Amino acid sequence: MKFFIKNYGCQMNLYDSTRMTDALLAAGYEESPKKDDANILIFNTCSIREKADEKLFSDLGRAKSLKFKAKDRGENFAIIVCGCVAQSKTTEITDRAPYVDAVIGPQEIHKIVSAVKTALSKSDEDESIFMSDMASKEKFASFQSEQITKRSCSEFLTIQEGCDNFCTYCVVPYTRGREFSRDVADIIEETKKLVSLGVKEITLLGQNVNSYRGEGPDGKNWSLSKLLYAIAEVEGLARLRYVTSNPKDVAKDIAEAHRDIKILASFLHLPVQSGSDKILKKMNRKYSVNQYLDCVDMLRKYRPDMAFSSDFIVGFPGETDEDFEKTLELAEKVKYAQAYSFKYSPRNKTAAAKMDNQVPEKIKEERLEILQNLLNDQQNKFNEETIGKTVSVLFTKNGKFKNQLVGRSEYSQAVSICDKAIHIGDMVNVKITELKSHSLLGSIEEEK
Ligand code: SAH
Ligand code: SF4
Ligand code: F3S
Repeated sequence: MKFFIKNYGCQMNLYDSTRMTDALLAAGYEESPKKDDANILIFNTCSIREKADEKLFSDLGRAKSLKFKAKDRGENFAIIVCGCVAQSKTTEITDRAPYVDAVIGPQEIHKIVSAVKTALSKSDEDESIFMSDMASKEKFASFQSEQITKRSCSEFLTIQEGCDNFCTYCVVPYTRGREFSRDVADIIEETKKLVSLGVKEITLLGQNVNSYRGEGPDGKNWSLSKLLYAIAEVEGLARLRYVTSNPKDVAKDIAEAHRDIKILASFLHLPVQSGSDKILKKMNRKYSVNQYLDCVDMLRKYRPDMAFSSDFIVGFPGETDEDFEKTLELAEKVKYAQAYSFKYSPRNKTAAAKMDNQVPEKIKEERLEILQNLLNDQQNKFNEETIGKTVSVLFTKNGKFKNQLVGRSEYSQAVSICDKAIHIGDMVNVKITELKSHSLLGSIEEEK
């Protein structure tokens, strides 16, 4: 029986989807590259903005017709919704799409094999299956590293999940639950397994990765920086990243780790959201613009080539033209290498959705365009400045042309080369010669 997983949303969902894939493969199911050839459709969903939710419901409409056709042929068929929408809109999913067989929250995905079995054998008249406990500890305890199969030379590894910050716009604390950190030994074991499969780069994941407090082999709670030093010792690992950092939790020990650990990339995703202290306060971000700028300066002091990316929200309730100007000013000061920006989207249960002075859609659109133009210019400038320089690139996939390979620099820039001597999984020094749209082109200088 073949399964197909459609993934939406953040890297944490991607990680969960790979764990579900591993568990299903180990149980004898086959992975299908195409939705149309599968009898088990799994949607691993995201609820961060309204658009993400709606995408699920339009995809479910198409899944319904595949299910009915299969049933007409006398075949078993299961539709399963996992992830953050499964947690935030559990019964709404089956009210709107009663043909969904199972709804599984993000902390219950380790039960995917038994859910698939039950879903395949149940009839349409039987109740749908609901799983929505916040069982993070059980979830991670049930992952078996011997089940892990390699997919790429760059993989994610979740070390912390859930969030206690309750930023007033954000649905994540309601979908992923309270913060949970995995034990150090567990993380090191998974790192070693990935490296033994040929993985060169690992990105550690957490909604709030800097508040990592997992139990170490010494019985004490370890910080993220302590964990980074330990992971960097794993032989064969060529590059290490971590995401997402909340600026309020980035302290000197992290800057020191960036100074000391050679394989730690000189790149940090440090979402600021807004450049106005008034808006940051209403967002409950717990840092000021000056504190954010100090944090950027500190990191650059300890690692002078440190590059930054960020997330921005425009049109948060009460955001005036002056507040928005301050966001532009902040971006001008930091000079981002990359950035993502979004229109504020009111989410169920969150405090901001009930705030006065919601910003009209048209103004959000105008502000988004202005900000995105500025951030695009900054990205282009950052990339242009790389021309003539040498960067270290991990090549992860084939490009569109013959002998072309595509990879990422330590600053997370897309770089491509045409060189027969280079293979997927190689990390090499590349001299950058040209910038084409958002991608850099280069040639090999010397092997690392
Ligand atoms: N834990 C991360 C963010 C996870 S969500 C952090 O604290 O930075 C990823 C991004 O989605 C956020 O940084 C934010 O910019 C955006 N986002 C979250 N909720 C949103 C909402 N309601 N409307 C618009 N963008 C939102
Ligand atoms: Fe959401 Fe804030 Fe937690 Fe990030 S830190 S996941 S934005 S509540
Ligand atoms: Fe989306 Fe859930 Fe990730 S809401 S961004 S999939 S934590």
